[in-house]
Amino acid sequence: MKVDGRTAPETGSILDAVLALGIHLPHLCKDDNLPPIGACRTCLVEADGRVVAACHTPAAGVSEVLTASERVARLRREVLRLTSRMHGREPDVAGGPRSGEIWAAYEEHGLERPAFPRRIRDGTDATSPFFEFEEQACILCGRCVTACQQLQHIGAIGIAGTATSARVTPGAGATFASSICTACGSCVAACPTHALRPKPMSDPAQAGRSRRRGNGTEDR
Ligand code: SF4
Ligand code: FES
Repeated sequence: MKVDGRTAPETGSILDAVLALGIHLPHLCKDDNLPPIGACRTCLVEADGRVVAACHTPAAGVSEVLTASERVARLRREVLRLTSRMHGREPDVAGGPRSGEIWAAYEEHGLERPAFPRRIRDGTDATSPFFEFEEQACILCGRCVTACQQLQHIGAIGIAGTATSARVTPGAGATFASSICTACGSCVAACPTHALRPKPMSDPAQAGRSRRRGNGTEDR
């Protein structure tokens, strides 16, 4: 198989082959250690003339992959533009190890930082002593949910609701502190947007703070 004219391994997915060659391709809902979810479509490539999601298309049987053709770059840009409408401004705080992925993808595809005309989720849950969750940065990629379920086998969080009411939650009316969350940090490590992020531990007061906003309950 050739990827952008270079010989690539035919084991695993097309995304595996692309990344093995050191070619950067956004893959916002695909965690390195977990099976593909196929939710975000930011990994689109051309494979033998068809546009496919690289993360869950097997490399076997494919002859030629193009990651940067005009056609597929334009499609990815539009997918990213739509994605950018799902969240608010980039949080002005440090995130987990992968939390800059979405902003890098915007830059690589020539998208200016979006104007954020809509912000449909604006809750905050900082009840965990170790991390906090800011809904306005969430794109509902599902990586946190998959990490919790399939890496840690805990299943503390899920995506509830549909369309504009869909949101990541540790349970109806629950906070992370009141859920079965063990604060293992897998969700924080998986999040590509800063929505789930470590609390700044240099501030002990912050680390112990318990508050939740945006769901009707008060800071405390
Ligand atoms: S919190 Fe992060 S990892 Fe979870 S769905 Fe939202 S953007 Fe994806
Ligand atoms: S990374 Fe392939 S669909 Fe999200």
